[in-house]
Amino acid sequence: MKKIGHGSYPLTRMRRNRTKLFSRELLKENRLSTHDIILPVFVTDGEKKTIPITTMPGVFVHSSDKILSTVERAVNLGIKSIALFPNIDNSLKDFEGSYATDENNLVCKTVKLIKDKFPDLGIICDVALDPYTTHGHDGIYSDGEILNDKTLEILCKQAVIQAHAGCDIVAPSDMMDGRILAIRKALESNGFHNTQIMSYAVKYSSSFYGPFRSAIGSLNNSKKIDKSTYQMDPSNIKEAVREVELDISEGADMILIKPGMPYLDVLSNINQNFDIPIFSYQVSGEYSMICGYIDNQKNNRSNIILESLICFKRAGATGILTYFALEIAEIIKSDNIG
Ligand code: PBG
Repeated sequence: MKKIGHGSYPLTRMRRNRTKLFSRELLKENRLSTHDIILPVFVTDGEKKTIPITTMPGVFVHSSDKILSTVERAVNLGIKSIALFPNIDNSLKDFEGSYATDENNLVCKTVKLIKDKFPDLGIICDVALDPYTTHGHDGIYSDGEILNDKTLEILCKQAVIQAHAGCDIVAPSDMMDGRILAIRKALESNGFHNTQIMSYAVKYSSSFYGPFRSAIGSLNNSKKIDKSTYQMDPSNIKEAVREVELDISEGADMILIKPGMPYLDVLSNINQNFDIPIFSYQVSGEYSMICGYIDNQKNNRSNIILESLICFKRAGATGILTYFALEIAEIIKSDNIG
C-alpha cells in the first residue's frame, strides 16, 4: 500500500469522522450479521424437558420435541445455522463410546427432526466421542492413553451416519491426528461428496470448557479431565499454524479456532496466513464470565454482548459460534447496535 504522509493536527483531527452518528455508522469497518452467527443447541433424550444449565444463564438442554421451538426462534431471527450437541443418558455410555455410531442415536434422530421442519437450516454436528464415553475423553482410552488410530475408525463411522441423517457440516472437534483425511475419505466413499468438514484445527486444552462439559454431562464425577495429550497447549501459536496447514491439506473446508476471546491473536495470525474460511467459538466459560460481568452492568447488556462478538470479525473470523446467538440476533434485528 502506498504510504501517504498525513498532515498532523489540526489538518488531521481523528475525531472529525467520529462526530456524527451517521458518519460513525458509515465508517464502521466490521459489522455483525445473523449470517455470521451459529447457535449451539444442547439436546437430551426424553420428552418435554427444558433443563437450565446453571453456569450458563439463559442456556438450556432441551429434549428434541422442545428443541423445535428454539430452532424456530433462531430461524425467524435470521440465523442460518446451528451446532448440535447431545447430552447422552449415562445408561447409553460405555468405555468405547459405541452409541456414537448408532444410526438411530439422539443426534441422528434430532437432525432428521429438525431437517424435516427446517430443510434450509445448516446443521453442524460435532464428531468426537466425549458425550458418549463413560470416562469423558474424546477418544478410545486404554492404559491411560488416548488411542489415535483406533479413534479415527470410530470417528469415520460417526461422521458418515451423521451425514446420512442430514447433517450438512461435520465438525471433528477432538484434535486426533489424521482425522480430516480419514473422515474426508469415508464421506467420499459413501457418496457424501458435498458434506462439508469444519475442522476444529486449533483447539486448545482450555479451562474455559467447564460449563459445556456439565451441559453435555461429560464431567466424570467432577473429576478433572486432562485433555492435554490431544488438545493444544495454550502457550503455543507456531503449532497452530502447523495444525491448520495439515487440516487444509487433508481436505478441511473451513477451520475453527477455539476458545475465542483469549485466542484472537491466533485467529488473526491464521487469517493472515491462510485463504480458508475461519470460524471461532466463544466457549461456555467465556459466556458465563461475560454473564457475570453483565450482572453488574445490566443497563449496558447489548453493548457488552456486541463488543464481545465484533472483536471476532475484526480479528478475521468468517463466523462465530456463541451462546449469545439468539440475543445478538435480536439486537441486530432491532438495530440496537453500536
Ligand atoms: C468436545 C467439545 C468441547 C466443546 C465443544 N466440543 C469440550 C471439550 O473439548 O472438552 C466446548 C465448547 C464450550 O465450552 O462451549 N468435543
